[in-house]
Amino acid sequence: KRLILVGPPGSGKGTQSPIIKDEYCLCHLATGDMLRAAVAAKTPLGIKAKEAMDKVGFFYIGELVSDDLVVGIIDEAMKKPSCQKGFILDGFPRTEVQAQKMLEKQGKKVDKVLNFAIDDAVLEERITGRWIHPLSGRTYHTKFAPPKVPGVDDVTGEPLIQRKDDTAAVLKSRLEAFHKQTEPVIDYYSKKGIVAQLHAEKPPQEVTSEVQKALSA
Ligand code: AP5
Ligand code: ZN
Repeated sequence: KRLILVGPPGSGKGTQSPIIKDEYCLCHLATGDMLRAAVAAKTPLGIKAKEAMDKVGFFYIGELVSDDLVVGIIDEAMKKPSCQKGFILDGFPRTEVQAQKMLEKQGKKVDKVLNFAIDDAVLEERITGRWIHPLSGRTYHTKFAPPKVPGVDDVTGEPLIQRKDDTAAVLKSRLEAFHKQTEPVIDYYSKKGIVAQLHAEKPPQEVTSEVQKALSA
């Protein structure tokens, strides 16, 4: 299967992805995770990404990285053998230009776009309560999915961190970017008749059931 997950910050894309990935044997490509890892590792791409991020104030003002940079990352990542059976794109495409460029470069048909529809008002609590184990990408929430020991990863015992862009102030601009630049992507795929609507405000297990239903339809 070739899937695209689209939804605002905190809508649950990163939470549902590992479940879908295991169930359907797909690779999970999250551009946000890839950008953060590249910056942390100071790879050539990370250095380039950081320049772009600094230019737009990336983590601090919550704007998008340039289309060319992100399309390049995805193009490269999709060559991995693990992606040949199918993929989950989490956080990509995030602009109409990215959607068009992916089609040009990959020529790959997308089977389904899962739209994590949710009210903006719910997202601040989700974002400000999120804690992450950076190495594995495991995600927790102080209220909705607490770790066994506060601030500590259940599996490795290593410390959890919070993302620099997970503040109420930065969330505002991330949401603005979503409504302005990413909502048109949903329209773009709606015209192709492949968008499935999810009720992303429901508890995680119920969202998983909706995903399974959408993918078996
Ligand atoms: P990215 O990392 O993609 O961030 P995002 O889109 O803002 O999405 P999040 O990761 O914040 O939300 P999520 O939906 O994954 O939520 P989660 O499942 O963790 O991008 C970061 C930045 O990188 C962007 O701002 C941009 O600058 C850049 N970038 C990335 N891709 C780009 C692109 N294509 N082009 C240009 N720039 C790009 O859930 C959140 C919390 O809620 C967790 O704590 C979780 O435990 C909890 N939770 C999840 N589901 C539920 C539920 N059903 N009920 C209760 N709690 C829940
Ligand atoms: Zn995410």
